[in-house]
Amino acid sequence: MQLQDSVVFVTGGASGLGEAVVRHAIVGGAKGVTIVDLSEDKANALAAELGDRVLVVKTDISNEGEVAAAVAATVAKFGRLDVTVSCAGIAIAERTLDREGQPASLPNYAKVIGVNLIGTFDVVRQSAAAMSKNEPNDEGERGVVIMTASVAAFDGQVGQAAYSASKGGLVGMTLPLSRDLAPAGIRVMTIAPGLLDTPIYEFAPPEMKEQLSKTPVFPKRLGRPDEFAKLVAAIIDNAYLNGEVIRLDAAVRLPPK
Ligand SMILES: NC(=O)c1ccc[n+]([C@@H]2O[C@H](COP(=O)([O-])OP(=O)(O)OC[C@H]3O[C@@H](n4cnc5c(N)ncnc54)[C@H](O)[C@@H]3O)[C@@H](O)[C@H]2O)c1
Repeated sequence: MQLQDSVVFVTGGASGLGEAVVRHAIVGGAKGVTIVDLSEDKANALAAELGDRVLVVKTDISNEGEVAAAVAATVAKFGRLDVTVSCAGIAIAERTLDREGQPASLPNYAKVIGVNLIGTFDVVRQSAAAMSKNEPNDEGERGVVIMTASVAAFDGQVGQAAYSASKGGLVGMTLPLSRDLAPAGIRVMTIAPGLLDTPIYEFAPPEMKEQLSKTPVFPKRLGRPDEFAKLVAAIIDNAYLNGEVIRLDAAVRLPPK
């Protein structure tokens, strides 16, 4: 499938990795891009900069009706939906037992699973339903879904039980989703980023960012959001990539802390 002339649905598209995907898609000649994000202000500012091929639909991906409305608005404006890139995600760091021996909050655990895993599954299933109505291309493809996990799916750190479980769930469902959606001609891939320089590190003091930059094996720096967007474009382009997880991490393996 080609990025050029495709209609791309990007959750978390207002910031960080999702924003890079939105920009790359517009430069790459996408017919239309929908920014599906909770943050309406940032999404609107990006749309104002990029022009009328960008649609903003304020959406909480953990709300089934809002996801349905975002898919419907995309099809109404651009005529179809070809590619879904699911970047929306949250992290709540919390040790399973705190220093006083108190157990972690169950609502916090459920919230992370609700957004990162259940919300992403809802985005996949509802956008796949729209893709299944497309005319297939010469390869029989009707669509491509790309989910964003994390290296924390494999080497989760202290305090990341919920986040790692949610991202591990995305890794685990990549193959069965690709098997489920194969009859519709829809491929499913997952990217597991390492340490990429996005607003999630804005809170961090400069020395922490400096320290994190030394963690990857090579190159010794944080990854750039456009390196994520380039991998997304390569996955869209390459019809033989399906049912697999790709680490984008400069060989980093996260230590316990
Ligand atoms: N940056 C990294 O180093 C890194 C590493 C591994 C995985 N990831 C994953 O990549 C994805 C993007 O992260 P980022 O670094 O670009 O973060 P970010 O905070 O810059 O962007 C995340 C976006 O998701 C949106 N969002 C959050 N909850 C939402 C919801 N319920 N519904 C709709 N939108 C919602 C936010 O408003 C924000 O615009 C996340 O899933 C994150 O877990 C990032």
